[in-house]
Amino acid sequence: MKTILFMAAFSCGATTLAKSVDYVIVGAGTSGLVVANRLSEDPSVTVVVIEPGKDERENPLVYELGGWLSAQGTEIDWSYELASQPGANDQVLKLAQGKGWGGTSMINGMTYVRGDSAQFDSWEDLGNPGWNWETLLPYYKKAEKYTIPRVSQLAAGATYEIQYHGFEGHVHTGYPTTLFNTSFAPSVIETWEGLSLIHNPDLNSGSVHGFSIGPQTLDAKEDIRWDAARAYYHPIQARKNIKIIQGTVRRITWASEKRGRGPTRPAVVASGVEFVTEDGEVETLEVKREVIVSAGAVRSPLVLESSGIGNPRILESLGIDVVVDLPGVGENLVEQTNHAQAFSSNLEPSGAAFHVFVTAADLFGDELATVEAATRENLTGWAEAIVDASSNNALNVSVIETLLRIQHDLIFKHEVTLAEILTFGIGQEGSDPVFGSNYWNLLPFSRGSVHLGSAEDINAPVIDPHFFLVDFDLDATVATGKMVRKFWTSNPMSDSVSGQIVPGSDVLPDDATDEQWEAFHRGSLIVNSHPLATAAMMSRELGGVVDPELRVYGTANVRVVDASILPTQISGHLTATLYAIAERAAEIIKKTSC
Ligand SMILES: Cc1cc2nc3c(=O)[nH]c(=O)nc-3n(C[C@H](O)[C@H](O)[C@H](O)COP(=O)(O)OP(=O)(O)OC[C@H]3O[C@@H](n4cnc5c(N)ncnc54)[C@H](O)[C@@H]3O)c2cc1C
Ligand SMILES: *[C@@H]1O[C@H](CO)[C@@H](O)[C@H](O)[C@H]1NC(C)=O
Ligand SMILES: *[C@@H]1O[C@H](CO)[C@@H](O)[C@H](O)[C@H]1NC(C)=O
Ligand SMILES: *[C@@H]1O[C@H](CO)[C@@H](O)[C@H](O)[C@H]1NC(C)=O
Repeated sequence: MKTILFMAAFSCGATTLAKSVDYVIVGAGTSGLVVANRLSEDPSVTVVVIEPGKDERENPLVYELGGWLSAQGTEIDWSYELASQPGANDQVLKLAQGKGWGGTSMINGMTYVRGDSAQFDSWEDLGNPGWNWETLLPYYKKAEKYTIPRVSQLAAGATYEIQYHGFEGHVHTGYPTTLFNTSFAPSVIETWEGLSLIHNPDLNSGSVHGFSIGPQTLDAKEDIRWDAARAYYHPIQARKNIKIIQGTVRRITWASEKRGRGPTRPAVVASGVEFVTEDGEVETLEVKREVIVSAGAVRSPLVLESSGIGNPRILESLGIDVVVDLPGVGENLVEQTNHAQAFSSNLEPSGAAFHVFVTAADLFGDELATVEAATRENLTGWAEAIVDASSNNALNVSVIETLLRIQHDLIFKHEVTLAEILTFGIGQEGSDPVFGSNYWNLLPFSRGSVHLGSAEDINAPVIDPHFFLVDFDLDATVATGKMVRKFWTSNPMSDSVSGQIVPGSDVLPDDATDEQWEAFHRGSLIVNSHPLATAAMMSRELGGVVDPELRVYGTANVRVVDASILPTQISGHLTATLYAIAERAAEIIKKTSC
């Protein structure tokens, strides 16, 4: 092995020129850099992070507030092509994911919203004792450095309750200076209140129901986007015991020894990783303690599969030797669909969107009981359809039905929010401001997968989210679309609105039929870029991939820490929760690693 990595300053054990490190982290993304920062707090511990992308701190797309709107398709976006989607007129859609120090946090929309508490509590039912809202809250606060809104930002619709925020963490959250009160906020607030929604006192309290302007991951004084590298790596880059190197991890290498983890299943031991440098050279790096896979929901399952961890049927078809039989790897992918409607208005635009979260009761009104019963009846059928659509026999109908039933209970018994509606009026230099809504079904029942396309190419995942495989996902989306139109055509908002611009009245006339609503939503689908659950933290019986200590089942020293371990979708935006989980993961690793 060439030791390109270690200077004499790396003081591992007795040798000055270390040949191995304590921890290797695969991916310098949103979650990986949190873990890297925390593990390297101990100067005697060495950490190497391997990342295909570069240091992007000087890239205006990464630090300017509006940069992310132009980042897609540039070299800092992996821009994955999805499998053609029958539920969306066979379109081939793209999924944005960040490539570079900071990962997807470099190119995201910066919204900082956690979710509904019952959703996190349900993780305990999936085989994860100790994982719930109450135990996560301290980690949300640990990660956060909140700037409270100014008077003009409160007037513009922002709200907060101080006890839910942290002030000492690494992730700046707050409101852009471009947010101040105009004629837009009073009209939005009155109109949503007229539709019986509450102005939520704090979207990060564990209940997102209602509307408010949520904080964003940014420096509120300087208007700088705050990604994971700015938060967790730049401040500690001078540490001698941590290094980011450019490369793409191809696989985990295994030691010949095995360790006991229970009488029947000896656990395999990772000896290091094999990675490809920028010049295409293959290098290996030995690890003394652990490999932490943080390559994101699309890529972490690929790293596991190419290392022999996954569904034997898939691994064998790719010519990969099976090291751990774990059929949940790459399964359970849940991704959301996003849609937009735009209107013309003569209000003055405001600098940030209202986040509006609605429940099934808000969406279905008098029909709620009928919808509840009809969907409950259909759970078995949906589980069968999901298993049929998966090509590799990884799934078990009764297990999928269990997962769908838990989600059904959350929606209809625990009344978690089912859809999110952004409500914005945003000024644009040199053209008319844009008024409208992007909106999405937060909790699709449809499930898909991501797998390696070939053993040779770690960069070519086969991603299929199966959008609208379950017809209720489309029903919920249509109901949300109708609510969006109702909002923009209700008083007092309607006083300032002269018409709908997107879509045109040919697509969605005033008296559109259900067929037209459905056709519009199938044809105009935008991928929401919140993929998760592809290496889910669940019991092995339910198809889980990592245990409650985030260790991959059947291994002694491999963990996954990123969006792939989230077992369910949440009524939030993912980074708030990922920063919290990664903070907690680092503590767990410090306590439990060999
Ligand atoms: C357009 C867009 C808008 C979004 N808006 C929001 C928002 O407003 N608020 C919010 O909270 N969330 C938002 N999200 C989602 C959120 O940003 C992501 O869910 C989150 O950043 C994912 O973090 P992660 O740690 O799972 O993975 P990532 O941050 O994606 O990190 C994975 C890293 O691993 C690297 N990697 C991949 N393969 C390998 C390999 N083989 N070897 C080594 N390294 C590898 C990647 O290059 C990447 O740097 C948005 C996402 C997108 C795309
Ligand atoms: C916000 O601005 C509007 C329009 O200028 C004004 O009518 C309203 O009273 C302001 N709201 C607050 C809370 O200051
Ligand atoms: C339930 O399934 C039936 C039969 O497949 C279907 O016609 C109906 O639309 C489904 N209902 C819901 C709410 O998904
Ligand atoms: C499905 O999984 C359950 C729970 O692990 C198990 O009891 C059942 O036998 C499995 N069914 C099939 C067909 O594999």
